[in-house]
Amino acid sequence: MYRDHNNSELNLSSVNKKVTLSGWVQKIRDKGFIIWVDLRDRYGITQLVFDSERTSSEMMEQAKKLGREFVIQITGTVLERESKNDAIATGDIEVLVDQLTILNSSETPPFTIEDNTDGGEDLRMKYRYLDIRRNPVKNKLIFRSKVSMAVRNYLTLQEFVEVETPYLIKSTPEGARDFVVPSRMNAGQFYALPQSPQTFKQLLMVGGLDKYFQIVKCFRDEDLRADRQPEFTQIDCEMTFVEQEDILNTFEGLTRHLLKEINGVDVEEFPRMTYDEAMKTYGNDKPDIRFGMMFGELNDVAQHKDFKVFNEAELVVGIAVPGAASYSRKEIDKLIDWVKRPQVGAKGMVYVKYNEDGSLKSSVDKFYDEDDLKAWAEKTGAKPGDLICVLSGDANSTRAQLSALRMEMGNRLGLRRPDEFAPLWVIDFPLLEWDEDTQRYHAMHHPFTSPKVGQLPLLETNPGAVKANAYDLVLNGNEIGGGSIRIHDQKTQSKMFDYLGFTEEEAEAQFGFLMKAFTYGAPPHGGIAFGLDRLVAILGGQESIRDFIAFPKNNSGRDIMIDAPAPIDEDQLKELDLKLRSK
Ligand code: AMO
Repeated sequence: MYRDHNNSELNLSSVNKKVTLSGWVQKIRDKGFIIWVDLRDRYGITQLVFDSERTSSEMMEQAKKLGREFVIQITGTVLERESKNDAIATGDIEVLVDQLTILNSSETPPFTIEDNTDGGEDLRMKYRYLDIRRNPVKNKLIFRSKVSMAVRNYLTLQEFVEVETPYLIKSTPEGARDFVVPSRMNAGQFYALPQSPQTFKQLLMVGGLDKYFQIVKCFRDEDLRADRQPEFTQIDCEMTFVEQEDILNTFEGLTRHLLKEINGVDVEEFPRMTYDEAMKTYGNDKPDIRFGMMFGELNDVAQHKDFKVFNEAELVVGIAVPGAASYSRKEIDKLIDWVKRPQVGAKGMVYVKYNEDGSLKSSVDKFYDEDDLKAWAEKTGAKPGDLICVLSGDANSTRAQLSALRMEMGNRLGLRRPDEFAPLWVIDFPLLEWDEDTQRYHAMHHPFTSPKVGQLPLLETNPGAVKANAYDLVLNGNEIGGGSIRIHDQKTQSKMFDYLGFTEEEAEAQFGFLMKAFTYGAPPHGGIAFGLDRLVAILGGQESIRDFIAFPKNNSGRDIMIDAPAPIDEDQLKELDLKLRSK
């Protein structure tokens, strides 16, 4: 037997017990005549002691050979410690070793296996198995497991059935590129890995399963960011005979349950906001509503003076940054440089200092008097002490730029507290989205999403105005889930494909199976998918999902530990009937 206790279990009640422990050597303090070793496993740390008065000289010799990260097994007696350590569960005791077995030696690790490590990101990714030995990473994986289990329990109790759907499929359009897999048995043909199990879950509803969920890997070949990985996990759900209201209530229930069970937080009924309202007040379809700084549109009060920049703009819009009127000229210049960075893209920024004494001073005093500026303050909700930041230009980009500034100021002012949770439903998304590159409309959610009742005719006259039965769940400024009520009749689905620019043949080739299924009594249905990685990260108080994934990819989509992707050899290419274009 390797152990009879783990390394967090022993305490004063175990004194004088003979115990066997196993684990890794975390730390060695060698005073010559006495050696202390911190023995670590997943559960904690136990202090071992080798003492020349009580330990054989042979064992002392062996102990001196230990190095960091050696794997050992010991047998010894639990003793009360003279100087206790409140920081760890076993801090009242130590184990006087009388038998030591080295189970495996270890090279010196490339970075310290401690909570605060000296290892850089790349090194830690390369030796991810060592990084997982560190508490901050290990605890995030354990946390993820706890969240997954809570999700499974909740949905199972609500009579959802967990069904696995295939990974080797045909393209499912979710707006990213597919990862493709060549088929050996069908030379020249390819599977696509699912961007989501969307079509399969709809077929399960046609199959009468009524309530489905799956914790499932999805694959999307898209540019990576802190909250995006090429393979990620969804909590994918679908229900039959439901309207939008049923879905919102069911999954608000799940989210509320998780916040309570995992974070011990009670949240009131989730607020709802239309997409249009979110864009207008926050410039963003996933607003962080933990803090204010709502947009004030200033066209009425800032145009038709002599300031050409504003007069020519489609939108003039500002926010009031609390307490920032005291910023120095230098600090404001830095802020202006920040909004002009290519990542944000503003051409400049006009500002108004609303001083504590009630006076207002702007960077465009030449064009606006104090009464004008008072009107700006009113529209942006500014109070004495605030700095009003104003951007202008075409409506879409200006909103995006001001939203970036709002989030940045939220971060800088510490208003985005990770232990505060502000969920929000964003509803009534547009059905379609204009794509500049292809000069046509695309489905904003996906092509299976139903338009709001009665809005189908609008497709012919004003397609951009058609609203969908589509919704997102936003938590602390992150989109953690999205879904829709689906089209369930063949005619409407086929019309939608036609509208999105699929020829009849293309629609048939790609989605014929789904439209066929719709002709066999497809029930009304709808659903949602949560991004599990994002949900777990946010419940865990962070926005980067990487550490909540055991083996993540880096920003170029590489796994630098196993060195993937990698070339394949000639034989394999031949077998798959593939040829590489000569370089
Ligand atoms: P959607 O594309 O909105 O909807 O995806 C659902 C949720 O998945 C998460 N997500 C990601 N997480 C990490 N890395 C990524 N690359 C990534 N892409 C998406 C987000 C997102 O809200 N089939 C539909 C759902 C439905 O209609 O029921 C779908 O996939 O948190």
